[in-house]
Amino acid sequence: MLRSSVKLVRGSSSRLSALSLRAVNNRFSSHFTASSKLSLEDVNPRVIAAEYAVRGLIPARAEELKKKLQRHPHEVPFKSIINANIGNPQQLKQKPITFYRSVLSILQSPSLLETDVFPEDVKARAKTLLDNVGSVGAYSHSQGSSVVRESIAKFITERDNGALAHPKDIYLTTGASDAVKVIFEVILNGEKDNGVLIPIPQYPLYTAALALKNATPIPYYLKESDNWGTNPQEIDDLVSQAEKFQVKPKILVVINPGNPTGAILSKENIEQILAVAAKHGLVVIADEVYQENVFEGEFHSFKKVLSELQSKHAEFDSVQLVSLHSSSKGVSGECGQRGGYMELVGFKPEIVALFTKLASISLCPVVTGQALMEMITNPPKEGEPSYELYQSEVSAIHDSYKEKADALYAAFKDLDNIEVQKPQGAMYLFPKITFNDRVLAAARESNLLPDVFYCLRLLESTGICTVPGSGFGQEPGTFHVRTTFLPPGSEWIQDWAKFHKEFVEKFAE
Ligand SMILES: Cc1ncc(COP(=O)(O)O)c(C=O)c1O
Repeated sequence: MLRSSVKLVRGSSSRLSALSLRAVNNRFSSHFTASSKLSLEDVNPRVIAAEYAVRGLIPARAEELKKKLQRHPHEVPFKSIINANIGNPQQLKQKPITFYRSVLSILQSPSLLETDVFPEDVKARAKTLLDNVGSVGAYSHSQGSSVVRESIAKFITERDNGALAHPKDIYLTTGASDAVKVIFEVILNGEKDNGVLIPIPQYPLYTAALALKNATPIPYYLKESDNWGTNPQEIDDLVSQAEKFQVKPKILVVINPGNPTGAILSKENIEQILAVAAKHGLVVIADEVYQENVFEGEFHSFKKVLSELQSKHAEFDSVQLVSLHSSSKGVSGECGQRGGYMELVGFKPEIVALFTKLASISLCPVVTGQALMEMITNPPKEGEPSYELYQSEVSAIHDSYKEKADALYAAFKDLDNIEVQKPQGAMYLFPKITFNDRVLAAARESNLLPDVFYCLRLLESTGICTVPGSGFGQEPGTFHVRTTFLPPGSEWIQDWAKFHKEFVEKFAE
């Protein structure tokens, strides 16, 4: 086939078209049996096995109901779908921060630099970024623009009381999700004996990404009665026992502030977790995408606590840490822009080289997402034209999150059969719901887990879309629901309370 194609190429153009037409006709007039399409047995079983509850059964049903609402609004007992299933603020009408979008506008349309549409600091920022990347339509450095990495390194150094961060250790990523997959790709070798300690409940990206890598999740349970605290002794014990099960723990995932729990780790807790990591040579993934979303207590980054420990104890010098951040959370809520970064700490140069190689295989992370990470970590300063508006927008979003979290917490606290921990951070509440035997039997009859049964009924009655706790993992025999507190207004909270009371009454024994 190759040789005849070469001959064709060498022929004159008219001879070539005649010949190629004949070749095509010959090829398709010959009889052959058409092969069947790919079936599930032909494809990657790990993709089939991976599950991601945040966009699972309940949100899929919500999509169907949304369509039904558009076509036959009278057949549905509510006016709209309330997407409380996912931390996606702008889907829920949160306005973007003006400074970010103004700079992005110029990055997309550089001719705006020649106009007076935007204040001088917006233009200056856009110019700095454009001078560095050329155009947002061009590939950048694979690790991310140097200007962006410099701003991020400066931000981390200031955040962590002077513990130095270097631009060479920063890798821009296409959201934090991409960072997690990259870390797993580098560290997990595809063998089932690769163990990864994950909190339960956890953000299901982790179990999904582990399923893709064929690795073994080692769950450590967060303590609900202790405001979803982490018990480092349990992690230590699990690592010690893992050998018995032929599993080698390699990575310890910590989500702080927590999703779905909203819990914030104390500094002492982080120190103890790092001690376990140091003792067992575990790579720590500190998922800190909610670091700005703090209502109670204080956020301590793993990097800061590690640097402090390293200044006092040589045992901590060997700790390997990857910290994650994202443009999707905080107050920016720019989920669709896919910005994020990871900072590598303490890896040998040959391992760092693998991260760099993987980054170059993907060419570069989304450049506008990189620009957002630059602005998030280097916001307008006092005295600059955009400062006041920026500050007022940021505090309004913070205040509204806190208000909504408190309102939801207050509503849950008053309801029978619901127990809820006070929100400390992130964007979620994870109330525990106790179901009696009648609910358990009804769920069994519907072939659903009890928490799925509850969430489905909640959705069908009120349009409120949540995620059952089973999608995040929970202590066996307990049931939870994860809800964001992002949807606007308070009407939906009252609708939920009303639904819950009716549900309890309906299934009363
Ligand atoms: C704990 C946690 N990590 C990572 C992510 C992924 O965020 P991104 O949009 O940056 O990929 C999320 C998203 O909700 C999250 O909750």
